[in-house]
Amino acid sequence: MAESATLALDAKVQELRRAGTDIVDFGAGQPDFPTPDPVKEAGERAIRENRTKYTAAAGLPEARKAVEHHLHEDFGTKYDAGREILVTNGAKQAIFNAVQTLADAGDEILVPSPYWVSYPEQVRSCGAVPVVIPTEDSDFRLDPKRVEDAITDRTRAIILNSPSNPTGAVYTRDELEAVAKIAETHDLVVIADEIYGRMVYDGTFVSFGALGDAARARTVVIGAVSKTYSMTGWRFGWAAGPSELIGPMSRLQSHSTSNACTVSQYAAIEALTGDQTETERRVVEFDRRRQHMLDRLAKIDGFDCIAPSGAFFVFPRVERLFGGRIDGKSIDGSLAFAEAALEHAKVAIVPGVAFGSDAFVRISYAISIDEIDRGVDRLADFVGRIDRA
Ligand SMILES: Cc1ncc(COP(=O)(O)O)c(C=O)c1O
Repeated sequence: MAESATLALDAKVQELRRAGTDIVDFGAGQPDFPTPDPVKEAGERAIRENRTKYTAAAGLPEARKAVEHHLHEDFGTKYDAGREILVTNGAKQAIFNAVQTLADAGDEILVPSPYWVSYPEQVRSCGAVPVVIPTEDSDFRLDPKRVEDAITDRTRAIILNSPSNPTGAVYTRDELEAVAKIAETHDLVVIADEIYGRMVYDGTFVSFGALGDAARARTVVIGAVSKTYSMTGWRFGWAAGPSELIGPMSRLQSHSTSNACTVSQYAAIEALTGDQTETERRVVEFDRRRQHMLDRLAKIDGFDCIAPSGAFFVFPRVERLFGGRIDGKSIDGSLAFAEAALEHAKVAIVPGVAFGSDAFVRISYAISIDEIDRGVDRLADFVGRIDRA
């Protein structure tokens, strides 16, 4: 199994920083904001009041209720906290539980690319096969015909990520309905990773769970407090779906990690049910950064961006710069490009190859406007120094 490329990059950046190198980190997969104070206080209170023991493997009833509340309030969907919601150690474990529960060795799971780095590895971890469906040549929109063509009698599920990491693409209701129809025809489960569902800047977000009863009956919606509430380290996520899917996933978790950290569950209850003003303010700030990043990148010849509608990443095509050389060294793909950017510009970006799309790089705007400016200045200078073929 390959190491997570994003975590590996993060480790490299930390190492360089410890050695005193000034790096602008466009690799960030998490907001620069702190966890909101009321949420931290709820966690502290839980510790002081000794609410620190095991909970039910599927989570505290109040934590599952808080997820039920969020899904209804923000996405207009109805899930029953008692039977249809499982609390996990972050979205990552929710997806892992779903994949492990659905696929046996030799089964196939459809994964549109660019994909979030862990999907293919999680599918492989149960001996199943990730079947990649490219969207790079269709502006990151999923072509239903390609989905149909990829289905065999071993296909069990499709993993959809909207808003997408790394592209920021958000699927429209029509696009989701096309996938729902295919899933129904071929008896597939949809694993809908909606971790960035509250971070949408253009148009409205539609949850896969909101498409109607037929789609809902074959969908596991994945979410977490990680990104929305700057709580990546607390490890609190969830899966919501019909009890036929959530039940086995809970049993699997009961024999692996048991419940998500109890203290984090109390903090997440506050995050999901408390005042949302600060969270909404942060989403507005992300949108401002997005616009700024896009305006600045548009001026670099060689960075071709499709404007992202959600999450906090831009995924420019940089293929036009491949074949160039810097200090005599050839840039022959996204990995070489990212390595050269780190070495020569002291800017961390994630190579597209980690997401199955070598013509691109991922640039995060989960950092301040000043840092964005500093980093883009460096990138522009770096690109200017590339000796183009
Ligand atoms: C699309 C996507 N899904 C899932 C995760 C994992 O989230 P968590 O930290 O809650 O496990 C991430 C985190 O980077 C992500 O970007």
